[in-house]
Amino acid sequence: MKIAIFPGDGIGPEVVEQARRVLAALSLPGLKLFEGDVGACAYRRHGHPLPAETLQMAKAADAVLLGAVGDPECDGLVRELRPEQAILGLRKELELFANLRPAKSFPNLEHLSALKPDIARSIDCLIVRELTGDVYFGEKGRDRNASGDVVGWDRMAYDASEVRRIAHIAFDAARGRKRRVLSVDKANVLETSRVWRETMIEVAEDYPKVTLAHMYVDNAAMQLVRDPAAIDVLVTGNLFGDILSDQASACVGSIGLMASASLGARKTEFGTFGLYEPIHGSAPDIAGQGLANPSATILSLAMLLRHSLGLESEASRIEAAVEETLNAGVLTRDLGGEASTREVGDAVLARL
Ligand code: NAI
Ligand code: MG
Repeated sequence: MKIAIFPGDGIGPEVVEQARRVLAALSLPGLKLFEGDVGACAYRRHGHPLPAETLQMAKAADAVLLGAVGDPECDGLVRELRPEQAILGLRKELELFANLRPAKSFPNLEHLSALKPDIARSIDCLIVRELTGDVYFGEKGRDRNASGDVVGWDRMAYDASEVRRIAHIAFDAARGRKRRVLSVDKANVLETSRVWRETMIEVAEDYPKVTLAHMYVDNAAMQLVRDPAAIDVLVTGNLFGDILSDQASACVGSIGLMASASLGARKTEFGTFGLYEPIHGSAPDIAGQGLANPSATILSLAMLLRHSLGLESEASRIEAAVEETLNAGVLTRDLGGEASTREVGDAVLARL
């Protein structure tokens, strides 16, 4: 089992350090760790935010754990050399087509949610967003219409094979959860969505124990805040997923708690290749002060073990340890507490 670890910039190294301690505590036999540079630190050392060695290391691994990239000092650089380009480069080169973001409320932290506590308490869903197709990657351009006005356009398209592969990710994930998939589209108006819906129905036949339901995206946005408990796995395209996944994050609360996985097309010996990272950035405002919440990164590690290494029970143990830590009131400043990054790591290790 090979894990490539890319700590990155700002608070990246601080939060990744705690995930690394958690990983060490599991003493997994046959595990090899590799460490590489991405982002501003890579630019400084190698002249590029995604050096060839780093990319090679990611390709040779079963999974990648990434901290965060970004550094205000790099704001003046040309776009290709900006730290954020490393993420886009990794997504493209590693064919990461499925973004998974769990949104789950944690006990006693409901007050951080944008929702009423009773509703916030009930959230436990997984948003599965297609990452490589849709209107973001369609042909785009500008024209003039008959009256000489400027027109901007972007082509929205999905082919059935793209929908099929994201559908399998969603149904597979649902099997390990409450066995419900909610496919979100706009099939009442969009042809793209009709192809999406037909393909979802076709894939569902392979999963007789999972139920499939459909919802239009406008209604889904409403249900996500009205009755999120009704949602288990929500699968949708790139555009709708971009919006709904951020909305789901706000339903939970602090950015320091939100983990993510980006799964690729490649199968590993133990599961699916993927890149795992907290959804937050490098937080330059608090970097180097021991204030960062490492929970999102530790929870991203749990997802890595589950999806790429097939270690479900270890993943669940880590998630339980983080939940108990939060429940015990060992909280960083973003959650209203005073614990340091390392103290949260200590508390998670103690419970593990
Ligand atoms: P950010 O997520 O880094 O920070 C937003 C706010 O949340 C800040 O106040 C920060 O202190 C706080 N925060 C973030 N993570 C936290 C944690 N683990 N614990 C406690 N507080 C936390 O977003 P921002 O400020 O917009 O971007 C900073 C840099 O990060 C930029 O260079 C940006 O491009 C980059 N970025 C990188 C991402 C990535 O690596 N995937 C994602 C988002 C931004
Ligand atoms: Mg977004």
